[in-house]
Order: sequence, then C-alpha cells, then structure tokens
Amino acid sequence: AKLIVVTRDGTEHEIEGDTSLTVMENIRDAGFDELLALCGGCCSCATCHVHIEGGDKSAIPAMSEDENDLLDSTTDRDGNSRLSCQIPFSDALDGLRVRIAAED
Ligand code: FES
Repeated sequence: AKLIVVTRDGTEHEIEGDTSLTVMENIRDAGFDELLALCGGCCSCATCHVHIEGGDKSAIPAMSEDENDLLDSTTDRDGNSRLSCQIPFSDALDGLRVRIAAED
C-alpha cells in the first residue's frame, strides 16, 4: 500500500509501505533519518511524532492513554498528531499522508 511521507522541508515522498510493519518502521526503513524513533517503537520517546495530513483517518486505531500523555510532552502537538510507532500500517491505510513533526 502507498504511504506518503512529508519531510520537514515540505518535500513529499511516496513510498510503498509494508503492511507487516508500523508506520514508524516504514518511514525509518525507507531511510528518513529525521524520524529518530529513539525508543524503537516502545511508546516511550515521542520522537516518532507525525501529523496525519490525509488518508482514511478512521482506519487508524485509537490512541492509548500512554500515547496521549507522550504527545502532551511535545511542542508541536495538534489535532492530527500521532506517534507513528503506534500505527500498524495496513491496506486500509493506502494513501495515508504523514508529515514528520518538528523536532523537540
Ligand atoms: Fe518511541 Fe514511537 S518510537 S514513541
């Protein structure tokens, strides 16, 4: 399925996402080093913060309390904020567009 990644300079990149991985893993494995994902997907660092800019948001699992708390520790949070390691990529998310959040 298709995943669109917008890097901090505003450039849009379209990648072929692997549906056995999370959105974070897809972005990282495609070589975008702006997404630090320091904790490796354990929902404890918030450096995988993205803004969901397009795609079927209703197909994204609801956020946990832990994710919500961690997002509160970021400076760039808005109503479209998610931690990309908490989103399993799937065919239902084909065409999802995510923008890498500002660095904290
Ligand atoms: Fe650390 Fe997502 S990679 S919270």
